[in-house]
Amino acid sequence: MCMSRHYDVDAVRREFPAVERMVYLDSGFQTPLARPVKAAIELFLREGIETAGPKSVWLDRVERTRAKVARLLGVTADEIAFTKNTSESMNIAANALPLQAGDNVLMIHGDHPNNAYAFLNLQRKGVEIRFIPMTDVVDAESFAPFIDERTRAISMSHVTFHAGHRFDIESIGAMCASEKLYFVVDVMQAIGVVPVDAKAIGASFIGSGSHKGLLVPQGLGLLYWDKSLAELEPAYLAAASLAEIPDDLIARPDKMAPSPAARRFELGNFNLPAVHALGASLDMIEEIGVQNIQNHCFDLGDHLIARLDELGVRLVGPRDRQHRAPHIYVIALPASDWLGHFEENGVRVSPERDGIRVSLGMFNTVTDIDRLIDVVRKRGLGRPSAAA
Ligand SMILES: Cc1ncc(COP(=O)(O)O)c(C=O)c1O
Repeated sequence: MCMSRHYDVDAVRREFPAVERMVYLDSGFQTPLARPVKAAIELFLREGIETAGPKSVWLDRVERTRAKVARLLGVTADEIAFTKNTSESMNIAANALPLQAGDNVLMIHGDHPNNAYAFLNLQRKGVEIRFIPMTDVVDAESFAPFIDERTRAISMSHVTFHAGHRFDIESIGAMCASEKLYFVVDVMQAIGVVPVDAKAIGASFIGSGSHKGLLVPQGLGLLYWDKSLAELEPAYLAAASLAEIPDDLIARPDKMAPSPAARRFELGNFNLPAVHALGASLDMIEEIGVQNIQNHCFDLGDHLIARLDELGVRLVGPRDRQHRAPHIYVIALPASDWLGHFEENGVRVSPERDGIRVSLGMFNTVTDIDRLIDVVRKRGLGRPSAAA
């Protein structure tokens, strides 16, 4: 039996058949699918095959899922838009900001490229992108020296994919409020494992995909928009983005005001199978509680760090709970040497810039961590590059 102080992890594990077939430590890459997610997609397929709809039922589920996403982020449903993935969310955000040539946006060097490129593309409009250095701790003080009178926004990840930093976005959000800067946050690696409270963060936009902590197949993203920022308008428009959708579906050039809700940023039809999947996965997450998932992953992370210390293998990125993500750990074993060994021994992990990334999900256990350590021991650390 695999104990957790926070919830019945054995019961959770039974919902993820893949994790009994391998040691799955790669949720930061993509989630294995759970049975309730499969059932929700199958329901959609059955309805499509047997009754060709009805679309109104599907759209009703879209709205119920939107409300669940809103609950997860502590906001109202009219502040949530569905997108394709994080990249689309970040591009929508970047292009909605009222930026002019000579303005600048601050980002963190080495942050996820899907966030960086969305903003770097604004260089075409003459917007300057300034990168601050990435250190284990990034907070308001890290950004402050780079702000000048033309700084308009900060965009960054909450949790980094490549070393599991968990940055102090509350302090940065508070500084953005006092300096009147827009604040755009990519929560792709945080959501579903780390509590994300959009209002406490003070974000203007929050973007994410859903194929990691949200347990859904690729192809569905989320965008939170602070609806008090009505000046943030969409760069692209479709009928459903408008405040008034013409009944006869004939476009009216004189009635193009965007919706007062976040659907102003939505384009056309939805990824309905994935939205069904998300409805089911959010029920699972809500039932366990994100705080419990976070605490469980922190406990596993403490165990991993202790076992790595015994072996003399260094952790890349922050060690203490205050600054590290609960579920993403990069260990200083060169990926080119070690990835094949993990694969051969049935352990799924990812290669990263500075080592091997071990990333946890709600279903992982101490036994998974111990199996990883056994696989490291089995090969030994004879190579000088492997140890601290
Ligand atoms: C921080 C972060 N942002 C974004 C992405 C992915 O972007 P997208 O959802 O557009 O594929 C990832 C990983 O896949 C990530 O780690």
